[in-house]
Amino acid sequence: MHSRAGERVSGAECHNEEGESWMPEWVRVAVADDVPPGEKIAVSVGGQDIAIFNVDGDLYAIGDTCTHAEASLAEGDFYGTTVECPLHGSPFDVTSGRALGLPAMGNSGKYEVMCEGGAIFVDPVPVIPRALR
Ligand code: FES
Repeated sequence: MHSRAGERVSGAECHNEEGESWMPEWVRVAVADDVPPGEKIAVSVGGQDIAIFNVDGDLYAIGDTCTHAEASLAEGDFYGTTVECPLHGSPFDVTSGRALGLPAMGNSGKYEVMCEGGAIFVDPVPVIPRALR
C-alpha cells in the first residue's frame, strides 16, 4: 500500500468481540520508525487527538486526552501496557483506554490502528468512545 500522510484509504476489515465486522477508513498518520517498541506518539486526525503506543512490537491507539484535566497521555511515562498521565499520575491501560485509577474520570477512548508498508494507519472513529463516569 502506498499513501501520503493524511490520505484516507480502505483496507483491512475489522472485527469486534461480538464477531461484527466493518471497514475502517484508515488514515495514514506516521511512519513505523516514528514509534519503535517502548515508544509513543500523539497524532491529530479527523478531529481526534490520539496517542499511539508500541508494546513489544504491537501498536495500540487510545484517546490522547486524559479524562481528568485533559493532559496529553502521550507525554506520560509508559511502561508495559500502562501510561501514567503526566499531570496527576492517573494510570491508563494503553490496550483499551481504560482508566486504572483516580483522579481520571473514565475511559479515554480506543481506536483501531495498523502498520502496513512501513506506515501507521488509524481509523479516527473510536471503537470504544471516550466516556466520563
Ligand atoms: S490531568 Fe490526567 S490525572 Fe489529572
